[in-house]
Amino acid sequence: MHMRTVRVAIAGFGGVGLATASLLLSRRARYREVHGVDIRLVAVCGSRAGLHDDRGLEEHQLGALEDGLSGPSFLEASGADLLIEAGPSDFRTGGPGLGYIRSALAAGRDTIVISKGALVHSGEELRQLAKRSGALMKLSGAAAAALPTIDLVDHSLKGCTVLEVEGILNATTNYLLDAMMTRGIGFDAALREAQLGGFAEADPRNDTEGWDTACKLLILANFGLYANLTMADLAVEGIQAVTSERIEAWRRKGLVPKLVGSLARTDGTFRASVGIRTYPLADPFANIRGKDKAIRIVTDAMGETIAIGSGKEPLATAAAALKDLEHILTVRAASHRAEQRASQ
Ligand SMILES: NC(=O)c1ccc[n+]([C@@H]2O[C@H](COP(=O)([O-])OP(=O)(O)OC[C@H]3O[C@@H](n4cnc5c(N)ncnc54)[C@H](OP(=O)(O)O)[C@@H]3O)[C@@H](O)[C@H]2O)c1
Repeated sequence: MHMRTVRVAIAGFGGVGLATASLLLSRRARYREVHGVDIRLVAVCGSRAGLHDDRGLEEHQLGALEDGLSGPSFLEASGADLLIEAGPSDFRTGGPGLGYIRSALAAGRDTIVISKGALVHSGEELRQLAKRSGALMKLSGAAAAALPTIDLVDHSLKGCTVLEVEGILNATTNYLLDAMMTRGIGFDAALREAQLGGFAEADPRNDTEGWDTACKLLILANFGLYANLTMADLAVEGIQAVTSERIEAWRRKGLVPKLVGSLARTDGTFRASVGIRTYPLADPFANIRGKDKAIRIVTDAMGETIAIGSGKEPLATAAAALKDLEHILTVRAASHRAEQRASQ
């Protein structure tokens, strides 16, 4: 039987882009066996340099990018059928990802988005572009990655009406609050520890002020629940002002603070906010430790569902993006079979 070839390009080649490329290459046999598809990584690029090989790049080539091979037009010219976007996130401008995602969707190429910026900034425009061109757009990597959020609603809770969502969606803030609660260290000391550990940014405000949680919540609301929210609709509070005295007061009361993004549906519209909520020790949310994340979803017919995620980064995010790839391969295989039947 003739095996279909799917050519993949990756835009944004930092920790997550490289981990995604390596995992993709290591799973090629699986894609052939399970999906009957020959996956080729034909192009990758960072902000100034990249690689292109129509026969497919191999792992040993990924360490040395060539200057000048970058930008949406470079990836378009590579002949890729599918884009994985893993550039920096900037929800105020859409970030560099926006240009790559726009050009791929406009050309009808299926697109897997890992950065949050473009989805928050121009989500509706991108959704319309995909609808017009027939391209599929998947975004697990941008919506808490290894923790299932949109997929939980789309698959496991399909058909139910989501009434409430509550999520510990940011690993850094969970780590900081957990360290302050369990080891009695102050915010600054916990932050220094997280920065030395390499998982808090040098400028941590996107995490500590709640913006990263807000972005993930908005993406879940708009792409998973078809809400139509913008950042202006959210009240956003972070953890940067949490003092040792407040921590001590919560501890005395047997409460555990978490930075939580929450959505509640009333009369068909969603109210969304990000802020600190406290939980009694018996609540599963009180026991989400370190860099773990969690989501609680209440639906009309399936009651309460809780998922807890603890994947190690950047592998877990790469795996979330490649879960999206397999969902796309499944959908495309079904439409391919339907086309073949129609032409017989
Ligand atoms: N790290 C995680 O655990 C995690 C988890 C979930 C989601 N994410 C999201 O995944 C994305 C990537 O994260 P990361 O940790 O891999 O970040 P990173 O290491 O900073 O990598 C970002 C990459 O984007 C590239 N880039 C910047 N401008 C570009 C442009 N105009 N065109 C093409 N590439 C461009 C950079 O290129 P240069 O190297 O040339 O500067 C770099 O290769 C972010 O949006 C992040 O929010 C990360």
